Amino acid sequence: MKLETERLIIRPIALGDKNEIFEYRSNSESNKYQEWIPKTIEEVETFIGKISKQINEPETWFQFVIVEKEKQVIVGDLGIHFFDSENKQVEIGFTLNQAYQKRGFAIESVKGVIDYLFKDLNKHRIITSIDPDNQNSIRLVERIGFRKEAHFVKSLLINGEWVDDVIYAILEKDWENLKSC
Ligand SMILES: CC(C)(COP(=O)(O)OP(=O)(O)OC[C@H]1O[C@@H](n2cnc3c(N)ncnc32)[C@H](O)[C@@H]1OP(=O)(O)O)[C@@H](O)C(=O)NCCC(=O)NCCS
Repeated sequence: MKLETERLIIRPIALGDKNEIFEYRSNSESNKYQEWIPKTIEEVETFIGKISKQINEPETWFQFVIVEKEKQVIVGDLGIHFFDSENKQVEIGFTLNQAYQKRGFAIESVKGVIDYLFKDLNKHRIITSIDPDNQNSIRLVERIGFRKEAHFVKSLLINGEWVDDVIYAILEKDWENLKSC
């Protein structure tokens, strides 16, 4: 199963991606708002091994990699958490290699995945959880049309520190309206 946008292929993560994933996921500065920063390639291997092999399974995470078509390089990854027992709501998370940021790859891939989740998997609502200081992520989701729904104070313990958590969401009907504008 793979998705295609103008410049990108979005396909399931594979064990052979571990070196490329490690290269950018281990960057503690560009990923400073994220909980998972691998210190070894073995940690990436374990991470890939634990990811669901099947997309759309309740209570699992599924992980895509984002491949730039022209150079055939992995520019980032995108995770989907099928958290809802009714299987109508999902959470997404996204990370780009710093070397490939600021070219519109994040917005292009997230829009492609949103379209797939609403149209092909018939989801009702997509959420994302962001540190309020993570301005690049906030700009990204607001540009797409996500609505800010909550700001929890010191609600997540990340790397030993209690941090705030902002929840953004988009409904299937919002997406339809945005697309017809
Ligand atoms: C969040 C993240 C994916 C956003 O990446 P990004 O590169 O800022 O987003 P995009 O790829 O959509 O690029 C948008 C930027 O590229 C610019 N751009 C250049 N060419 C473009 C094009 N062809 N199309 C669209 N935008 C383009 C836009 O103007 C925009 O710049 P701005 O944000 O300064 O206004 C990235 O910052 C990241 O990986 N951060 C670390 C991981 C992280 O914190 N993840 C979030 C956890 S919730």
